[in-house]
Amino acid sequence: MFESDLRIIILAAGKGTRMKSDLPKVLHPVCGVPMIQHVVAVANQISRRRPLVVIGHKAEKVSVILGEEVDYVLQEKQLGTGHAVMMAAPQLQDFSGDLLVLYGDTPLITTESLTKLVAEHQRAKSSVTVLSVEVENPTGYGRIIRDEHGRLERIVEEKDASSEEKIVKEVNTGIYIFNYPDLAEALRCIEPKNAQGEYYLTDVIALLAARGKKAGAVPCPNSEELLGPNDRLALAETDRIMRRRILENLMTEGVTIIDPASTYIELQVEIGRDSIIYPGTFLQGKTKIGVGCQIGPYSQLRDSQIGDASIVRFSVLEQVKTGEGVNIGPYSFLRPGTVVEKKGKVGGFVETKNTHIGEGSKVPHLSYIGDCLIGAGVNIGAGTITCNYDGYAKHQTTIGDEAFIGSNTNLVAPVSVGKGALVGAGSTITKDVPEYALALARSKQINKERWSKRTEG
Ligand code: UD1
Ligand code: CA
Repeated sequence: MFESDLRIIILAAGKGTRMKSDLPKVLHPVCGVPMIQHVVAVANQISRRRPLVVIGHKAEKVSVILGEEVDYVLQEKQLGTGHAVMMAAPQLQDFSGDLLVLYGDTPLITTESLTKLVAEHQRAKSSVTVLSVEVENPTGYGRIIRDEHGRLERIVEEKDASSEEKIVKEVNTGIYIFNYPDLAEALRCIEPKNAQGEYYLTDVIALLAARGKKAGAVPCPNSEELLGPNDRLALAETDRIMRRRILENLMTEGVTIIDPASTYIELQVEIGRDSIIYPGTFLQGKTKIGVGCQIGPYSQLRDSQIGDASIVRFSVLEQVKTGEGVNIGPYSFLRPGTVVEKKGKVGGFVETKNTHIGEGSKVPHLSYIGDCLIGAGVNIGAGTITCNYDGYAKHQTTIGDEAFIGSNTNLVAPVSVGKGALVGAGSTITKDVPEYALALARSKQINKERWSKRTEG
């Protein structure tokens, strides 16, 4: 839904003291993405206009993450949620539509719930509509106080609530939609006369209701959506809920997840249908898995792209790109800049870095291959090491198409092995090997006849 007379403001200036962190609360990641980015993503589904984000505590860190995606409002001192909205007044001067208020620390809120809230507000032509929720344990939340006709009267914060009010289980999610001119006028009248000495946005509701303006509260059917983690325990719980949502979406789209409880897939990951994700697998960052792949068990892939019909088992991949039908692992460590072309293989106890492995080429066992350009159809024998570092700088190794590197070879870079060349096992190669040549760089074998029998008569 896109409403031109709707603007969104996201409050994110608070410190989040209970996280006990150097990182502002709204930047703590949930399934790999900072909390506030989840909220911005939902805001972008609701309104075409860039959301206003109120920043204050470590403002720069927040703006570095969000960049140009949003407009900023600076709240230098965090004097409360009402004060935070007041700071946006200059940017909303000529605005006469509805203002949807979101908090940067409620990453589980969904587009569906917000769409319903906006629709109900506009249908009822209300001055304010609050998204409320019924919870078993309302501790810490603002309570929704209704009059004898069930109409919204006011919101009372936990710290200001009477014991009678504390029993109320319908609480404020911190999400509301206001007719902005009404809100702006009411904000001028609120005072920090409460237990926390803050300008509460929630006080606006009683003011509007007292002036005879229409105020409503729409209950959100799913209480999970309001979770605004204030500490690390709630953060883990929020992460768990988000993770389950991500896995359910993937399964709905045709991905097999063998054991959702032990599979960790971040928000931005994409997986093609008929791929199977085995237990103990972490797919992180902007990882993209093709169609019909088998990933895991016990693998960690970050910011990597895996071609269709590929297999990755018991391995760690970071910033790796592969073609179709590759076979990685078990126990491979593919570091940034590794490219494995179609049908390539990287096997057990192999580490690669900044290396291009050509089509159908194989590095099957126990190797370190760094800063290396490998052509197509190459076989790298077991135990081959590129000696790419001389203590000062990294150097390149180049291996031509169809070359064969014997087992236990050292390739001292910078060095190249020509197309179709063969390097004898156990060689230490320090000079370029021409095309189709045989290179042997090891001491000759000496056999001393009857050596072990020499002391016998
Ligand atoms: C607020 C609500 C409470 C509701 C709860 C839901 C008020 C007064 N209370 O309480 O009714 O049940 O959220 O989670 O609004 N912020 C600023 N500037 C400030 C203060 C806060 O930008 O000066 C931001 C924070 O970064 C945070 C959000 O506003 O994202 C909420 O602030 P917080 O202090 O967590 O409010 P609660 O006490 O949880
Ligand atoms: Ca909160």
